[in-house]
Amino acid sequence: MTVLTRRNLLKATAAAGLAGIGASTIARLTGVAAARPEPVILKTSNIEAKLMEAGPTRNVLTYGEAGPPPVVRMRKGEPFAARLINGIDDPTTIHWHGIRVPNKMDGVPFMIQPYVYQGDHFDYAFTPPDAGTFWYHPHCNTLTQTGHGLTGVIVVENPNDPEFDSEVAINLRDWRLGDDGQFIEQFRPRDAARAGTYGTVRTANWLDQPQYDAPAGGLVRLRAAITDVTRIYAFRVDGAEAAVIALDGNPVPQRFAPDALQLGPGQRLELAIRMPDDEGAIVSLRDVRGTKPKILATLRSAGKSLKRDLRDLGPLEANPVAEVDIAGAGRIPLALSATAENVSADSICGTLGYSFWAINKVPWPGDTPDPTAPLAELKLGKSYIIDMENLTPHSHPIHLHGMSFKVLSSSTRQVQPLVSDTYLIQPDEKVQLGFVADNPGVWLLHCHIIEHQKTGMTSYFRVV
Ligand code: C2O
Ligand code: CU
Repeated sequence: MTVLTRRNLLKATAAAGLAGIGASTIARLTGVAAARPEPVILKTSNIEAKLMEAGPTRNVLTYGEAGPPPVVRMRKGEPFAARLINGIDDPTTIHWHGIRVPNKMDGVPFMIQPYVYQGDHFDYAFTPPDAGTFWYHPHCNTLTQTGHGLTGVIVVENPNDPEFDSEVAINLRDWRLGDDGQFIEQFRPRDAARAGTYGTVRTANWLDQPQYDAPAGGLVRLRAAITDVTRIYAFRVDGAEAAVIALDGNPVPQRFAPDALQLGPGQRLELAIRMPDDEGAIVSLRDVRGTKPKILATLRSAGKSLKRDLRDLGPLEANPVAEVDIAGAGRIPLALSATAENVSADSICGTLGYSFWAINKVPWPGDTPDPTAPLAELKLGKSYIIDMENLTPHSHPIHLHGMSFKVLSSSTRQVQPLVSDTYLIQPDEKVQLGFVADNPGVWLLHCHIIEHQKTGMTSYFRVV
């Protein structure tokens, strides 16, 4: 619980603008119950968008009327509400990736909530307990719906954060388009059985290498979310001093320079970048993985230098995630492996018709418990350690819904005790992830390479 000092309050008021301080801040001050927040309207629609020189792409999906889905802003510890209205000819839901919501707000169809059909709506309401960078996406027919555009960044603000001079949010994703700018088949089975099917057009905020102005000599908070269905990135910043300050919505215990830092689908990177002093100097955020490195986005120094220093930046407040009781923890062995190819698998909610992958030797049928049992039943309030082992020759970003884990150790590298919801496990790696099962309900655990998720690498825990 944040102590509301006068200084914090002034900061919060300034951040909120003259329009004023949030209703719930007043409530905290006066003890009066907070008013229900106005819901953010997120309406899915089918649009045309310019993603390539060749001309507008048809059947792009977004939330809103045009352009990329909006950056949704929330405040740590304050109630948030959104109404999903489905304007497309395909049932959908919203999953708030990384936010520890109550189970019924988690957006997994059948297991948790009904489909939202065209013309229908669903109201989401929760209070985000953690500050940081998160994202939102459907959990239905996910390969097509997210592949066609339904991915947006979430910023959960914390009024106690250190002061930056500007902030940039970047949604990183690819598109599978042909030369004519139109969508081509979303996946190829032979690739789904390997690293996944890559997009052909790479974008940041739906643009090829966008440029943003930032105050010269100032400190920029850059928030990047990898919302692509397949691609793993290796990040570097050129042209400025930069430090990783948070990963997957949680502050890193020890800041470090992003030197080919690998992150996969679902993960988020937060950087503090100290802009150069000279007006017009260019800083680039690059992906250096693989044979085709790419400049993802650039920042341009603008105006007279603010002469800030990266070292003056105070720490980010840790999120209120319960400490794992390592000695008393239950163990959950979890082996990721390949399975026989071309076994046709029936799953609901966007089946791809194959199973290529398995968790503990079971190729899971998809986003439904029926007729499968959970991977494990967990006792509410108890600590657990997932002993996860990657027996495949590919990397997998494994995502847990509803609870945050702490990275305890890895067999192949030195790891910081990062708090996260997604761990990118490398081939032949064994890792220990500790968490407290403090959120009751059914929680998916799956690979966020969506083709892997949809061809066997999905399971779930039940916390009771
Ligand atoms: Cu980002 Cu199960 O999801
Ligand atoms: Cu995978």
